[in-house]
Amino acid sequence: MYILGIESSCDDTSAAVIEENVILSNVIAGQKVHAEYGGVVPELASRAHQQNIIPVVDTALKRAGIGKEQLAAIAFTNGPGLLGSLLVGNSFAKSMAFALGIPLVQVNHLQAHVLAHFLDKPGEEKPKPQFPFLCLTVSGGHTLLLKVNDYFDMERLGGTIDDAAGEAFDKAAKILGLPYPGGPVIDKYAKEGDPDRFQFSIAHLPGLDYSFSGLKTSFLYFVRDNLKENPNFIEENIHDLAASMQKAIVKSLTDKVKKAFKECDCKDLVLAGGVSANSGLRTAMTDLARRYHRNIFLPPLDLTTDNAAMVAVCGYFKYQKGEFVGYDVAPYSS
Ligand code: KG4
Ligand code: ZN
Repeated sequence: MYILGIESSCDDTSAAVIEENVILSNVIAGQKVHAEYGGVVPELASRAHQQNIIPVVDTALKRAGIGKEQLAAIAFTNGPGLLGSLLVGNSFAKSMAFALGIPLVQVNHLQAHVLAHFLDKPGEEKPKPQFPFLCLTVSGGHTLLLKVNDYFDMERLGGTIDDAAGEAFDKAAKILGLPYPGGPVIDKYAKEGDPDRFQFSIAHLPGLDYSFSGLKTSFLYFVRDNLKENPNFIEENIHDLAASMQKAIVKSLTDKVKKAFKECDCKDLVLAGGVSANSGLRTAMTDLARRYHRNIFLPPLDLTTDNAAMVAVCGYFKYQKGEFVGYDVAPYSS
């Protein structure tokens, strides 16, 4: 059974074909247009999706080696995300499902990040997390601690009250004059830096909530004050600045996971979302899991950031339950 997944919630246009939970193709067209603005410009994102969607879907079908008439259903991200971007995937999926006379499945983008762990690549059958598991979903728009009881039964244990972890990376990069998206660039510089060189204080909220806006501000003021003394401060210290900021973000994330272990009796710790590509976070969470005798599940790097295979696998699980939507379904931004 083949399912086509479509993802267009932010700045990646992606289409994937899966056969049950096995990825046959996963095509992602990124949008370079945002790099010079230091963040995603919604209007430009919608236009780029509109241009990319047909070639991306076409390529996904070709790479999978199937014809569109072989598809059993179409799954698309219906939210949360940028409304204009979501509308492109939503309208395209509806039109194509209507033309082919096949069911339409709506997918929540955050659930898709989590369920990416249930995908396999051809010839591989990797171990899957066991319900209930603890999942830290960290992306450019979200930071959530979830107790995942079943495929579509996810309890929110905590989350950010302001910026997402990915935003903290992106904003730190912008302050350092680095391009968007900043996370991968900070990660790269951090590898050659001293994480203990500078101290940035992290918020200590009660419970399992996060806050990253204070950290971002203290980073901004610190860099700005030092630039007054030394105009070359950034160039001379970029590796240590990246490593120290990354350490602060990672510490904030791990502290709450440690706390969540006490509240949630889950054997498995799962990371999801774009920030789960971060090498510092992967190492810190692996160490933490080992110390607390939990199994760790890290997504393969190509499935951390936005992609349509994760949308398709959600579609596959919903297809099995017969959870389809009509052509009147509207996208939602939050
Ligand atoms: O999940 P995603 O592709 O999109 C959203 O749903 O938001 O996540 C994108 C975010 C961006 O903030 C990006 O900077 C961050 O993930 N990111 C990283 C890394 N790779 C991507 N952050 C830190 N380290 C990385 N290696
Ligand atoms: Zn995402």
